[in-house]
Amino acid sequence: MYNIFCLAIRMFYFFCCLYLLFKEFKQNLLACTYYLRLILIFAPKFYHQTKNIKMKVTVVGAGAVGATVADNIARKELCHELVLLDIKEGLAEGKAMDMMQMSSVLGFDTKITGSTNDYSKTAGSDVVVITSGIPRKPGMSREDLIGTNAGIVKGVAENILQHSPDAIFVIISNPMDTMTYLTLKATGLPKNRVIGMGGALDSSRFKFYLSKALNCSQNDLNAVVIGGHGDTTMIPLTRLATLNSNPVSNLLDAETLKKVAADTMVGGATLTGLIGTSAWYAPGSSALSVVESILRDEKKVITSCVLLEGEYGQSDICLGVPVVIGKNGWEKIIDYKLNEEEQASFNKSAEAVRGMNEVLNTLAV
Ligand code: LAC
Repeated sequence: MYNIFCLAIRMFYFFCCLYLLFKEFKQNLLACTYYLRLILIFAPKFYHQTKNIKMKVTVVGAGAVGATVADNIARKELCHELVLLDIKEGLAEGKAMDMMQMSSVLGFDTKITGSTNDYSKTAGSDVVVITSGIPRKPGMSREDLIGTNAGIVKGVAENILQHSPDAIFVIISNPMDTMTYLTLKATGLPKNRVIGMGGALDSSRFKFYLSKALNCSQNDLNAVVIGGHGDTTMIPLTRLATLNSNPVSNLLDAETLKKVAADTMVGGATLTGLIGTSAWYAPGSSALSVVESILRDEKKVITSCVLLEGEYGQSDICLGVPVVIGKNGWEKIIDYKLNEEEQASFNKSAEAVRGMNEVLNTLAV
C-alpha cells in the first residue's frame, strides 16, 4: 500500500514537471532547464519504484520451508506477485489462499497465488526459490537425499527457465551444494544467477550457539560459516567471529568455542531429531534475507553457495563463501584470507562436496 502511495505521488510530481517543461518551453528557457533538471534527478527513482512494486517471485515447493519463505516475502511486501507451486494437487493453492486470508489482518498487499505444477503461472519471475524434493528424516544426512532430489531439482529448474529466462535462482533443496551445482550445469545460466542458500542459515545457527555460550544478544554478533552445507563440511569461522568487534576468542576458551562449532555443524540434524523432519523457520527466514538483498539491491554480504573459479583455491564447484548479493544475483566474492588451518578445512569440505557432485554422473539426471 505504501509503495503504491509513493508511486502515485511520484507520478504526479513527474507529470507536473513534464507539463511545466512544455508550457515554459517557448517562453522561458531558464525555467525550462530547471524543470528538465528536476526530471533527470527524479527519473531513476521513478523507474526503481515502478520496478520494485512489479517484482514477481516464485517459490517452488509448498512444504514447510517453501511456505515459510513465501510467508516471509509477502509479509515484507518484497514483491507485487508471489507464486507458490507444488506437484501435490491443491497444496500450493491451499497454502496461498490461507496466506491471502491473513493479508487484511497483517496489512500486506502482495498477491499470492498457488498452482499445481502449472509453470506458465510462474512466467516472468524475477527470483525463483527452489525448495523441491524430500526433506531428511531423523538419522538421515542431507547427502542421503541426492538420489531422489537430483531429478526433481533438475526438472524444476528446466521448467522454470522456459517461462522465466531472466530469473535469479535461489536453491534450498538438499544436498544444497550439489543441487546448486546441478542447477547451474542443467540451465547453463550465468554463474551470478544461481545462489545456494546454506551459509545464511548455518551462520544464524552459529550465532544462536555463540549467544548461548556468551549470554549475549545474537544481534551483537558477527559470525559466519563457510564451506559446504553438510554436518561434516561446514566451517564455522570461530577465529573471525566477534561480539561488537571484540573477537569471541577473547571471551570464550578454546574448548567452549570447539563445542559451539560442533553444535553449529549438526544444528540441522539436532532439529530434525526433535521435530521428526527438517526445520523451516530459520531456513525460511535465511532464504528471505537472500531474496530481499536481491530485490532491494541491498548489496549485503551473505555467505552463499556459488560457483568458484579459483577463489578460495577451488574451481568447478559450488561452495559457501561470503558474497555480495544485489539485483544481479551474487555480484562479488569476498576474500576472508583464511589461515592455513581454515584453508585445509575448506579444501577438505570441497573434496567431500566434489565427491557428492560426482554421484550426479551415476544418476540418470
Ligand atoms: C536445514 C536444511 C534446510 O539445515 O538443510 O535445516
